[in-house]
Amino acid sequence: MKNEYIFDATPEHIEQGASIIQKGGLVVMPTETVYGLGASAYNAHAVARIFEAKNRPTFNPLISHISEIDFLSQYAETDERVIALAKYFWPGPLTFVLKRKDMSSSLDLACAGLPTVTVRMPKHPVALALIRAAGVPIVAPSANRSQTISPTTAEHVWQSLGTRVDMILDGGACSVGVESTIIDVTGKDIVILRPGGVSKEDLELFLHEPVLLSHGNPKLPRSPGQMLKHYAPSHALRINAIHPEADEFFIGFGEIGPEAHLNLSHSGDLNEAASHLFDYLHQADEQTVFPRIAIAPIPEVGLGLAINDRIRRAAYK
Ligand code: TXA
Ligand code: MG
Repeated sequence: MKNEYIFDATPEHIEQGASIIQKGGLVVMPTETVYGLGASAYNAHAVARIFEAKNRPTFNPLISHISEIDFLSQYAETDERVIALAKYFWPGPLTFVLKRKDMSSSLDLACAGLPTVTVRMPKHPVALALIRAAGVPIVAPSANRSQTISPTTAEHVWQSLGTRVDMILDGGACSVGVESTIIDVTGKDIVILRPGGVSKEDLELFLHEPVLLSHGNPKLPRSPGQMLKHYAPSHALRINAIHPEADEFFIGFGEIGPEAHLNLSHSGDLNEAASHLFDYLHQADEQTVFPRIAIAPIPEVGLGLAINDRIRRAAYK
């Protein structure tokens, strides 16, 4: 569906989007993970509109999206380890929680008043072009209403946020399909705060050191991504299902099961499964004949960690 809010991501429309960002507007941009609801990191009024549009109950720190690695060290405190990680995994689905360096008060709301700043360089060419043209870091949470399934197409965004945004840049379906991996690199150990598009195994292979997995620390700011109920469809969701019940829309994986209505990946490829996950949950949630959803077990390795994290939260009652 196209309307006066959804624009093909042509160079002209990207320029228009950049000027909307500079004037304090909200522009939805495609990234390789999910669509992001973007605003200038330095415009507190625009940042506040993001929380309102998403109906986020509280102000939470947002990820700043940047287009140049060199910018990172003026924005945040970095060290050799962080720069090496950024050079290897950027642009891509890896987000760093770092000590904040830029103390401009206009940035306070984007950082939710914390002494940290959260940064990533997305891989999607449209996101990169938009950030470059806007000339500011673009803060962007997933472009959906709070607690609902994340959007991987412009159509998902439109259905969730509608006219609450100024412009939606349509760059097609997101290739990774789950959000970025968020790592806290402010301490000695690297801690995964949210599993995502870069696997724990890939991080450890690069670092030659173990990476920890956080299961939510009550002392840390409450991050919506760590809430038990999140990414939720409105239909009940049953996980680790081998066979569907009569009233269930069944999402299979690999050889489970032949009777599935949709299969995340017939060949059992976790990358392919991640890229389909949110779209299939959206489709399942739209079924009127099947009031419930069942989903096959997903192995807990590689991107399976991120997939299982999202479906466990989606299933939480
Ligand atoms: O792939 C992604 O990361 C997408 C695309 C658009 O880049 N963005 C995204 O943003 O998923 P969002 O806001 O939906 O999720 C970011 C999560 C939130 O749960 C937030 O609370 C947490 O990261 N977060 C951000 N900064 C943090 C910080 N300094 N400490 C702890 N949690 C933080
Ligand atoms: Mg989100």
